[in-house]
Amino acid sequence: MKIAMGSDHGGIHLKEHIKTYLLKKGFEVEDYGTYNEESVDYPDYAAAVAEAVVAKKQDCGILICGTGIGVSIAANKVKGIRAALCGDCFSALMSKEHNNANILCMGERVIGRGLAEKIVDTYLNSQFQGGLHARRVEKIMNLEK
Ligand code: RB5
Repeated sequence: MKIAMGSDHGGIHLKEHIKTYLLKKGFEVEDYGTYNEESVDYPDYAAAVAEAVVAKKQDCGILICGTGIGVSIAANKVKGIRAALCGDCFSALMSKEHNNANILCMGERVIGRGLAEKIVDTYLNSQFQGGLHARRVEKIMNLEK
């Protein structure tokens, strides 16, 4: 599975940690930045990851900023994106099973590394359940028209 990752300066340490974690597990990770602690604008990184996912260059995305809020708001402006901000494993599971989220967002200043690893594991290991959820997701996507 190919995973796009991105963060601003507020999420860079958790991004680096999760990137290393996923590479060790054998995932392909493309890092869309940022690459240092210099202050940057999170919409730029959210857009880069979102566009790569929509273009199917990557299978899904993981975005991190200080709270996860900014990157999730920005990514959800890109047509085709369903970005879910998760701070717990149940939400991560539901974001895939019910909402078929194609980007997982987290906040480095909100959750610890151990929880972030479990949220990522849960998100990547779960499947969209389809059925009535497919109809609801389709209704979400129709809002883009
Ligand atoms: C940057 O200071 C911070 O605003 C950003 O990382 C994020 O939390 C925005 O939603």
